Amino acid sequence: MSRIAAAVGLVALAAVLAIAVAVVMSDSGSHQEPPQKDEPVQIGKAAVVCFSETGNTERIAREIAGIVGGDFVKILPEVPYTAADRDYSDSGCRARLEQNDPAARPAIANDVDLSGYSTVFLGYPIWFGDSPKIMWTFVETHRLEGKTVVPFCTSGSSGVGSSDDHLEAVSEGGAWLDGKRFSSSASSSEIRSWVSGLGLGAAA
Ligand SMILES: Cc1cc2nc3c(=O)[nH]c(=O)nc-3n(C[C@H](O)[C@H](O)[C@H](O)COP(=O)(O)O)c2cc1C
Repeated sequence: MSRIAAAVGLVALAAVLAIAVAVVMSDSGSHQEPPQKDEPVQIGKAAVVCFSETGNTERIAREIAGIVGGDFVKILPEVPYTAADRDYSDSGCRARLEQNDPAARPAIANDVDLSGYSTVFLGYPIWFGDSPKIMWTFVETHRLEGKTVVPFCTSGSSGVGSSDDHLEAVSEGGAWLDGKRFSSSASSSEIRSWVSGLGLGAAA
């Protein structure tokens, strides 16, 4: 091989290597490190409040509380819902009647004290495309002003829809983030990724 051919070969090899390095570097730059399992997501003092009849929302709420080191609180209806009350195949079931009644505000049995919390996660199941009316009772009777409010829900298939906007509209203030819908089988890593991506900042 002549010296010229060898030199051309070396230059070509160097160019190929440079391109390969550039591709690898740009690729690694576009990936965010997934949050580490069990590493707490640091935010201000958080309450994770939920209403849950069959446990799906409660399971996710408890996971969120674990991730942010927050306090889990369950909203309890003063008049508990029976299976018949929740039977949405029945056109006259209690849940449907409440959802169809703009004035319905089912009473809450327990006191939930939100003072001292800077962030409030609010979880609920979707009922007939919206949040259960007991959530409306909750946001109307609890001061959320000065707090970050993070709505989330579970459903069979419906999205969050306008449920977050409806709650915000009747709420006592607060800085509301967009709602997030989970399926009942949402994985721990999905929940953790969502919490990490909220940009809630460092612990107060
Ligand atoms: C009265 C009632 C109405 C419901 N309406 C809807 C709906 O409109 N869309 C949907 O996808 N799922 C609907 N579901 C299913 C629940 O949203 C779903 O099972 C949810 O995960 C239950 O949460 P929970 O276990 O925390 O109560 C409804 C369930 C009930 C009891």
